[in-house]
Amino acid sequence: MTKKQEYTDDYPDKTLYLPGPTEVREDVIEAMAQPMFGHRMDRMTDLYTTIVEDTKTFLDTDQNVIVLTASGTEFWEATTLNLVDERMLVPTAGSFSERQANVAERLGKDVDRIEYDWGQAVKPEDIRDALETGEYDAVGTVMNETSTGVRNPIEAIGDVISEYPDTYFIVDAISCLGGDSIDIEKHGIDAIFTSTQKAFAMPPGLAVCTVSDAAYERELSKESASWYGGFERTLEYYDRKGQTHSTPAIPLMLAYRKQMKHMLEEGHKARDKRHREMAEYTRDWAREQFGLFAETGHRSQTVTCVENTQGIDVADTIETVSKEYDMVFSDGYGSKLGQKTFRIGHMGEHTVESIKELTDAIEDVAGL
Ligand SMILES: Cc1ncc(COP(=O)(O)O)c(C=O)c1O
Repeated sequence: MTKKQEYTDDYPDKTLYLPGPTEVREDVIEAMAQPMFGHRMDRMTDLYTTIVEDTKTFLDTDQNVIVLTASGTEFWEATTLNLVDERMLVPTAGSFSERQANVAERLGKDVDRIEYDWGQAVKPEDIRDALETGEYDAVGTVMNETSTGVRNPIEAIGDVISEYPDTYFIVDAISCLGGDSIDIEKHGIDAIFTSTQKAFAMPPGLAVCTVSDAAYERELSKESASWYGGFERTLEYYDRKGQTHSTPAIPLMLAYRKQMKHMLEEGHKARDKRHREMAEYTRDWAREQFGLFAETGHRSQTVTCVENTQGIDVADTIETVSKEYDMVFSDGYGSKLGQKTFRIGHMGEHTVESIKELTDAIEDVAGL
């Protein structure tokens, strides 16, 4: 059993290069420290409508937007409950897509998997084959497989699913939305969601989801749906009152407001470009020093999974870089990839220069 380890206020600051949580701007952190106000006050309506509408502008979408007090995992459950009666198709190619399939099974859904080796990307033609032979209420796909560093071809997958109007498209974009631009409407995405601690570069604790009109209608026609993450409950409350149905994490929403203004100033496309440059730099470095785990042509713009071809002690390198440089990056995901890979999160507020500081530190510690 884990014993209590007393929390002290005495921890050195570390620069986060994790695949989330990531670095948060100082003024965004400061925005949270305000006297509390009530979640039914006019001020709350100002705050919530500002963050919802700013998010639509940033994502360049006319779809509905929900910002909920929860981590992104909530929307695995809610989108499944709201859109799936019986059957769901989930391509699995890493830990998070497997978890998406597990969540749907736990909710009693009949889940068909298309299984890929970890490191491989989902192939749109496999989705087409599955949809041609079976009827599915929804396809659930992870856009950015954080465990393997694969960016799936969501656009092409969405174009295939669009040919099947009774099948809804659910996208987990948790580790990339905000750092990897996507045209939500053009590719028929019915619900795409993220957690704030990733490429939005906010503190953890809020989840964001867009909802198409068709997905909203679909939930209305179903006998059961999520209560907390129900599209109708959350969006109807927004329409009527401009607030959330239950008490939100107000300080986090204050931080959200501040950071979303920074994101709007930079713009979706410019943010995408900065992330692409960081990813290119990281991949070039990894190719030179190690190898890349993800399939060629499908590599993530926010997380690089480096294949440990040099056999360095990953755990030891992470610990030493943390101790000597106050920088934290991630080992490989789970027992499968723990020592075989390590992961660098180049998302949020990072720049090529800040990523270079980490790769220099790794080179120094690992004696490369
Ligand atoms: C792709 C993906 N999906 C889901 C999750 C779970 O997100 P959260 O912990 O915010 O619920 C993560 C977390 O890293 C993720 O990377």
